[in-house]
Formats: sequence, C-alpha cells, structure tokens
Amino acid sequence: MISRRHFLAQGAAVAVPFAIPRIAGAKTLGFTEIKAQTAAVQLAPAPYPRTEIWGYNGVMPGPQIRLTQGSRLQRTFLNELPQASSIHWHGIRIDNAMDGVAGLTQSAVEPGETFDYDFVVPDAGTYWYHAHNRSVEQVARGLYGALIVEELDAPDVDQDVVLVLDDWLLDPETAQIDPDFSSPHDRSHAGRRGNFVATNGRFDQSLDVRQNERLRLRVINAANARVFGLALAGMNGWTIALDGMPLAQPEPFTEALILGPGQRADLIVDITAAQGETAHLVRLEDQEGVSQAAFPVKDRSAAAPRPSPTALPPNPKMEVTGLATAIRSRLRMQGGAMGTLDVAILNDERKNFRDLVAANQFWAFNGTIGMTNTPLIDVTRGETVRLEIYNDTSFPHAMHLHGMHFREIGKNGDLGPFRDTLLMSGGETRTIGFIADNPGDWLFHCHMLSHAASGMMTWIKVT
Ligand code: C2O
Ligand code: CU
Repeated sequence: MISRRHFLAQGAAVAVPFAIPRIAGAKTLGFTEIKAQTAAVQLAPAPYPRTEIWGYNGVMPGPQIRLTQGSRLQRTFLNELPQASSIHWHGIRIDNAMDGVAGLTQSAVEPGETFDYDFVVPDAGTYWYHAHNRSVEQVARGLYGALIVEELDAPDVDQDVVLVLDDWLLDPETAQIDPDFSSPHDRSHAGRRGNFVATNGRFDQSLDVRQNERLRLRVINAANARVFGLALAGMNGWTIALDGMPLAQPEPFTEALILGPGQRADLIVDITAAQGETAHLVRLEDQEGVSQAAFPVKDRSAAAPRPSPTALPPNPKMEVTGLATAIRSRLRMQGGAMGTLDVAILNDERKNFRDLVAANQFWAFNGTIGMTNTPLIDVTRGETVRLEIYNDTSFPHAMHLHGMHFREIGKNGDLGPFRDTLLMSGGETRTIGFIADNPGDWLFHCHMLSHAASGMMTWIKVT
C-alpha cells in the first residue's frame, strides 16, 4: 500500500485530496497489542519529579479504546510487569471467559506471558478497563483506561470528552506512589484515599470550548476508594446515562452528581459561560468547590443554544421482569472499624475479631470473608434475582456486579436506572433486581479496592 509519506515524497506540487484506499464493507479485524508496562509520567507539577507508574502501553490512563456498538474487540494482552496481571472490561456484558478476573474466569497472566481478549460489545456507553489481579495495587499504580462504545446513532454534540477521575497517594517529597497497599488503616476504614487528585492523569485538565457549544462528558471514577461529588459551573447539563446505560429520559443536572469507585456518568452539557470566562466540572470537597476540569471559553459561538437533549437509544435486551417470583437472596455486609463483626469464617475457619485483625482481613459478607467455593447465589440462566443488601458497617461501599446490569427496587416497587455498581452508605438497606441471563461465574464485590482485598468479595453462579 502506498503510505502517505511515500506519496508526499513524490513531490506532488498541487494539493490532491488524499484518502487511504479502503474496500467498501471491509471490517477492520485483527488483534492489536496492549502491554502492561512500567513508565514515568509528570503527574504532580514540576519541580516535582516524574512519578513511576504502571500503565497500559506506558501511558496513564491507558489508550482510549473506542469502537461502535456491536463490533468486536480484539486485544493481545502482554504483561511486561514484574507481577502477574489480567484485564477486566468493567460494565461490558461479556462472555464469562473474557471477563478477566484472575483466579475466577482465567489464570493471571504471568510476567512475559500473553492472553488474547476477544469479544463483541453489545451495548453502547461509557465503560472502562482495568487490571483485575491484586487490583488494590495495580489499579492504584495506573492500570486502567476508558472503553467507549459509540451508538450507531450518536447524539449531536460538538465535542465528546472522556474524563477519567482518580486520586493518587503520593509521597509529598518525592511524588512517588505510596507502596503500602495493605495498610490496615486503609483496609479497615474508607479504603486507600489519595492526596493528589487528577483527571486523565493531569492536575490541570483543560479543554478549550466556545459559548453555546454542546459537549458530551463521559465521567469515569477510577479511584480506589474516593467518592466524587460533582457539580457544574458555567454550563447547563443533563445526565443521559449511568454506568454506560441510557436513562429513559435525560435528567436535568440540579443536584450534585455522586460517583462511587467504578461508576460512570454520561452528561450532556451546554456551555453558558461567556467568552473569556471558564466553565468547570467542579469537585465538591468539604463544602467547597474545586475545579476538576476546566473549560475556558475561547470564542463566541456562532450557534444559538440548542433545545434540551433527547434520550439515548436503549441498549438491547435490557429488562428486569419476573420480580414477584424472583429468587430471593440477602447479603449482610459487616466489619471494618466501628463495626459489628466479632467472628467470621476465614478460609473455612471460625475466627474472632483479633485473629481477623492479625490476618489483615476486616470485612465479611454473611459472616464469611473473601471468596469461597460456594457462590452467594446459584441460579439457572434466565431466572430473576432479587437481592437485598444490608450495609451493617459504618462506611460506604460500592458493590459491583460483573457481567450483568441490575436495577434498584425502591420501597414502593419502582425501579431505578440500570447500573453495574451500587453505592451504599453505612446503615442502609437497598434491594436490587436483575435477570441472570449471562451464564458463568460472576464476581460481586466492593469496588473500594482495599475492602475487596480484605474480605468484600463473593460471586454469583449462572448455569
Ligand atoms: Cu471494575 Cu471487579 O471490577
Ligand atoms: Cu467497601
């Protein structure tokens, strides 16, 4: 094939429209490589030194993967890290064998080894991918990226912007990542919270806009434990999707948007700030607003404000029916500091709280700590599950179900939006329902990764 360089080297004197020849109807198939590697990036502002991270293809966030709904993703994962790893495709209704959970759906990929991920993306929306072996360490070191599945009929916007939020726990002198990933304090309290917040790996994420421009913001919370409270300044907005899945109606952005670890939101925003001003995605912290991402208004717009956005097209086969006759299950979360956990089963043995502290394991589901051979729920494909979750702890938790989306069932039976991660406050009881229509062994865990590493992990079997 004639490369562009070759073409230019021929010294064409006139401007010729150039197009890479493409056979109509051809599908671009084939594996490309994604490598987990060590790298150094300027995370904190100079004169801080660069921070050593682990990143996909040496960057952080990893390369943005963008494809069209219904197409096929093929990646050869090559592990160049000193530690075994795997990739999980968070929120994708995927074949179980491709879910990337080391120890459950595949073996961890050893250093120097590869694994081929190959699957079709059935749903449009905002997803992400991240390491799923020793996640508390590997995600904190930077092993994650955005996975965007575009609608065949995407809404009309001027810019489509991905914002990956994270906080980093850095040494204040050296700007290096704190290597203590098993701190008993983090594990038994709110998890590993960073002291340096970034968007797309930058503390000064900024994007030039024009007044009246309409943006689609795809916000992803990739933090280990931080719950982000977000507001808008200098722009008007609507939430159009949560955890990848379209809302039935766009919801005007009035209150703060709360995003727990693992959760995503798609917003449509119209820039109302005037030329010379700056609009912001604002992070709410201790009653204060801090800029999470800035949108300087560089130009007056030619266009007038647009009418309110319409709903995104729904994804296929999304329903929760049969709740009246559903399989019922309960999950009681216990443990942590100021908790009620006195005894629990750890590795088939009954342990008192002091033993648990010595084992650095702090959280239990229904009295059991961590993964066992028995799933929380064992159902036949197609059955409806109704799961009541009681957060009998003093901390929030973000419960993530792999492989399927659920809806929250309100007190009077009304159904909430489809989600893959449920953020719960301490003391709350909430109920979710879903149709177990995806066969396999699916992890169900707290996405506060220190909690998952110290007990908050179970699984659901669909046969
Ligand atoms: Cu986002 Cu089990 O993971
Ligand atoms: Cu938790």
